[in-house]
Amino acid sequence: MTPTDRAPRGPLKPGEPTPIRTVPEHIARPEYVGRTGPERVTASDIKDAETVERIRAAGQIAARALEAVGAAIRPGVTTDELDRIGHEFMIAHDAYPSTLHYMGYPKSLCASINEVVCHGIPDTTELKDGDIVNIDITAYKDGVHGDTNRTFLVGDVDEDARLLVERTKKAMERGIKAVKPGREVNVIGRVIEKYAARFGYGVVREYTGHGVGEAFHSGLIIPHYDSAPDYDDVMEVGMVFTIEPMLTLGAAETYQWDDEWTVLTADGSRTAQFEHTLVVTEDGADILTLP
Ligand code: MF3
Ligand code: CO
Ligand code: CO
Repeated sequence: MTPTDRAPRGPLKPGEPTPIRTVPEHIARPEYVGRTGPERVTASDIKDAETVERIRAAGQIAARALEAVGAAIRPGVTTDELDRIGHEFMIAHDAYPSTLHYMGYPKSLCASINEVVCHGIPDTTELKDGDIVNIDITAYKDGVHGDTNRTFLVGDVDEDARLLVERTKKAMERGIKAVKPGREVNVIGRVIEKYAARFGYGVVREYTGHGVGEAFHSGLIIPHYDSAPDYDDVMEVGMVFTIEPMLTLGAAETYQWDDEWTVLTADGSRTAQFEHTLVVTEDGADILTLP
């Protein structure tokens, strides 16, 4: 931990909650909406070609919504305004914002600033010059979810954080390159952790990649650290999952705010994340969350 591992704005505090958005009746909801419990979807993680194309269509909407939100990122904008932009983009494309009412989550995307690792709830918080902010969007359309995120720079960001963001994207890309049928999924985390170690970055362990499709989180777990001999599921052609490493400038340990969602680094160090949904192919991976 060095002084610049922490954000120049100082520790983040929760903003004020903002009103809950609504989704037009004609847009189909995932089965968990209207319940508080976990998902009850049973589907194989191996998808047929038709299902893969539906996940790609949902994933493209999520990726384009992410671009629309990214275009609005600047100092002074609130995370609630970013939520509004993502929400309206998805409903304009007849997609349901998967996070809205998922296990009680109240918003249509996650906005995680600086030392927030993931699951930051959009509220009245304004982005400040020098921040980094992860926006995580999942869209549900035609019975399937597509899940993607990226970390954006707000104004003038110091070099430590710029490098963290650039290298976290590269870590995700290395993880994707490690995808091959016949390999255990723990190969992915081994590659990511090795790359992060070069720079002394922490790799968050409590939150992982996951199987996705008919279910938002299928039960298949993709760690971003070297978990061998655990997590030995063998990758197969047609398997669909996310890779979404969270790297930190300091230590990897996390804690949660009392809102029961916002996850932060225990030491207050800044953290970045990138995510794609992909399908395993004969010779590698096909990314399903491209714009
Ligand atoms: N999109 C996140 C993921 O990558 C999950 C967000 S769940 C929420 O798995 F409820 F926090 F929104
Ligand atoms: Co995900
Ligand atoms: Co996500």
